[in-house]
Amino acid sequence: MTLPPLSLYGEARWPELVERVLARSWHVVASADEVPEGALLARALLPGVLDEPLLLGRVDGEVHGWSGVCTHRAAVLEPHGEGARCPYHGRRFNRGGRCLTAPGFERPGEDDHLRPVAVATLGSLIFASIAPAMPFASLFPEQRLAWLPPLPALPDPLGEASFEVDAHFLLYVENYLEGLHVPFVHPGLSAALDLGDYRVEPAGWSSLQLGVGREEEPTLAAPEGPIAAAWVGLFCTTMLNHYPWGLSVNIVEPLGPGRTRIRYRRWVRDATLLEAGAGAGLEQVEREDGAIVACVQRGARSRLARPGQYAPKWEDGLRHFHQRLAELLETRPPSA
Ligand code: FES
Ligand SMILES: [Fe+2]
Repeated sequence: MTLPPLSLYGEARWPELVERVLARSWHVVASADEVPEGALLARALLPGVLDEPLLLGRVDGEVHGWSGVCTHRAAVLEPHGEGARCPYHGRRFNRGGRCLTAPGFERPGEDDHLRPVAVATLGSLIFASIAPAMPFASLFPEQRLAWLPPLPALPDPLGEASFEVDAHFLLYVENYLEGLHVPFVHPGLSAALDLGDYRVEPAGWSSLQLGVGREEEPTLAAPEGPIAAAWVGLFCTTMLNHYPWGLSVNIVEPLGPGRTRIRYRRWVRDATLLEAGAGAGLEQVEREDGAIVACVQRGARSRLARPGQYAPKWEDGLRHFHQRLAELLETRPPSA
């Protein structure tokens, strides 16, 4: 297994990454509380990149998704009443995606109903994929992660924050998946961790990293003993970070080959632990990661740059991610 060529992070291969990787993987598209009973929610999946119009709604309490594009001439639909309507020639759909009326036609046919889109719920996060290359269950191996506190079903009480980095989303994700940079990039975080005990466990389409804390710091109870943090990367744009104080989620939104937005959400279980151990000062850690991936982005453009080798153990999560990425890049998506 060799590292991907640095050309993968450039403009020329961006369309291929969008169609073969982003269009075939799962992304957080909404929160459970944004999808009400008795109405549809219109959302674009990865705005500006996939820009795929979706409609989300509940059927018997469970969230479902449909293409938000009209089955007549492809106008983008608008939520209307309990369902949706087309602003172009007035086609109406119910909250189950069924076409109710189709002006100009005697009655709607089977092809006139909305195309279902795969959605999955994890805590209060709703994921969607328009052409999933992997089942959602393979992103979150429950048997391995069952000891983690369940994801909260409620909206984030601290709201949401976001910032943008001048780097390809792959560079941001790759940096997240390895612990080798921690002592060099994050002096504060590395002071809270015993890096000799850092562990990486790639599995399925995810990667689990465990950080062991210094003795006096608060811990989470993992099957292998107390840990300071568990970082779970779900292919390829979601990161679940468990700390003794609660959960922080990073949602990665690619904006283009050199620009990425990261949205953060936090659920606090024990506010007294917020500033202790590996979960303290996360804004600072994020700034440090943002600066270093922008530094890599500049270097990756160099005509003289070449990818190096994987550091044993430290970069096992990165190697696994590249294998998964290569699988998607090697296979052409089935044409719709
Ligand atoms: S495009 Fe929607 S009814 Fe014609
Ligand atoms: Fe980092």
